[in-house]
Amino acid sequence: MEVIITSSYEEMSRVSAKIIASEIRKKHDLTLGLATGDTPIGTYEELVKIHQEEGLDFSKIKSFNLDEYVGLAPLHKNSYNYFMRENLFNKININIANVYVPQGNTEDPEEYCKWYEKQIENCGGIDLQVLGIGRDGHIAFNEPGSSFASRTRVKALHKQTLEDNSRFFSSIDDVPRFAITMGIGTILEARRILLIANGERKADVVAAFIEGPVTSQITASALQLHTDVTVVLDNEAASKLARTEYYNWVRDHKHLVQKMVGR
Ligand code: GLP
Repeated sequence: MEVIITSSYEEMSRVSAKIIASEIRKKHDLTLGLATGDTPIGTYEELVKIHQEEGLDFSKIKSFNLDEYVGLAPLHKNSYNYFMRENLFNKININIANVYVPQGNTEDPEEYCKWYEKQIENCGGIDLQVLGIGRDGHIAFNEPGSSFASRTRVKALHKQTLEDNSRFFSSIDDVPRFAITMGIGTILEARRILLIANGERKADVVAAFIEGPVTSQITASALQLHTDVTVVLDNEAASKLARTEYYNWVRDHKHLVQKMVGR
């Protein structure tokens, strides 16, 4: 796991957008896995900027979002589909026919989840998966206790997640209790994973998933089982890590490290 500690939310956003842009330049028809939440908003803003100023081309990109609230139609203002259009899709030249966000108001969630997995497979699998992290350690909506072998499915949300996400709704009672989410197994199949986190409120869980044991109680810790994970943090989210000096040394000697380990 490569851990990059940056000095601010803005720098975290620039560094992560650069990583995404460089993967798109290497493979113009990349399949991108995308996340929602406050964390990636700055990264998406930076990507829009790179698209406008440097002509980064999304026309052949395919994208799959991690999750969506059950019961919310794609046009609902609190849906992740709406979030993605507002924060990214409407501002870049992505072909909307190549965009997949789980459909929250599907009539048959079980069949739909199988179909979603099939579409990922038909697109050749996810090349780069962007992730945030919840305060209970979840990635996508894989709440504590989720199986590391899980696939896209409906998951009941934990109280802490309902509380955290209630800021987007008029009250906690309006937050849907269920979500369609890619599984841990689905996420681990992505060729490369980029997790971003900022703010002091994420510091405990960031230290736990990077330096603590692999446990389904903190589902992000499953990323320790993947061979190509980059974590980009601001200094607040990194503040409880024990091995900061090592991560910074690796970051500051990138050329040497790349020469020696081939990455
Ligand atoms: C939601 C999403 C996650 C996201 C998390 C953190 O629960 N399902 O994908 O990582 O929130 O959100 P934020 O970035 O707003 O802290």
